[in-house]
Amino acid sequence: MPPLQKSWALVTGASSGIGVEFARILASQGYPLVLVARREENLRTLAKELESAHGIATRVLVSDLSAIGAAEALWEQVREAGLEIDALINNAGFGDHGHFSQSDWERTHQMLQLNIVALTALTRFVLPSMLARKQGYILNVASTAAFQPGPGMAVYFATKSYVLSFTEALWSELQGSGVIATTLCPGPTQSEFFAAANMGGRSMAKRKLPSSREVAELGLRAMFAGKRTVVHGLANRILAASNRLVPRGAVLSVTRKMLE
Ligand SMILES: NC(=O)c1ccc[n+]([C@@H]2O[C@H](COP(=O)([O-])OP(=O)(O)OC[C@H]3O[C@@H](n4cnc5c(N)ncnc54)[C@H](OP(=O)(O)O)[C@@H]3O)[C@@H](O)[C@H]2O)c1
Repeated sequence: MPPLQKSWALVTGASSGIGVEFARILASQGYPLVLVARREENLRTLAKELESAHGIATRVLVSDLSAIGAAEALWEQVREAGLEIDALINNAGFGDHGHFSQSDWERTHQMLQLNIVALTALTRFVLPSMLARKQGYILNVASTAAFQPGPGMAVYFATKSYVLSFTEALWSELQGSGVIATTLCPGPTQSEFFAAANMGGRSMAKRKLPSSREVAELGLRAMFAGKRTVVHGLANRILAASNRLVPRGAVLSVTRKMLE
């Protein structure tokens, strides 16, 4: 086992999509990595790749972060292993397509636990040691879904509004502390997201989408530069800004059509 090193980065949802790319970029910058998700084989394969490509240490922590108490248990493992986390990337998340009245409550509850509760808990747990060291980076992955309500994916959009609101407030609270909390808002991006959200057949998922790599690079650049929020892509930035100017009824009709 590699020797313990300081200044680890922890990436949730590192078994596919944008999370894999966060891990690859951080490893290329020399960060030892804690990789978290449910699919152990994917995490172990990635860990091997990064150890041999960059000579970094890795820890694989398998966790279903949608389970009640999972974030607390994960943090206990991090603490017991003596890993000091310098960068926390709260990336794990999923969506669920369909009308709320027909949704499966268990799945919705898991989404709330993962997208909101686990992200908030890990942020809370990592802060004391970052504040004591006057240094640290937190990147919370929201979405362009954060900027408007989403009829057809009502709960997912609302979870991402939470992530944006929470993280922007935190960014402000942390001013002058040496700790940065940044929100990344990707638009539709190549990954397993659409399949996981039962949207694989939809036109949005079939368009030529930006790569996970591009989105992860933007997020990490913004985080290390101390930015509050970053939205990927010019069209997404225009849409996000226009949501503030267009009447809410019109925003709802357009979003509903896009998600149908
Ligand atoms: N792709 C897009 O179009 C898009 C747009 C805006 C925002 N986002 C956001 O970007 C983030 C990353 O998503 P992605 O696009 O890379 O999708 P993805 O390829 O489906 O990746 C999702 C990651 O989250 C992990 N995850 C899901 N459920 C989990 C659970 N219960 N416990 C622990 N980990 C769990 C998955 O790992 P396991 O399945 O192995 O657990 C996987 O590593 C998400 O927060 C998503 O909402 C994506």
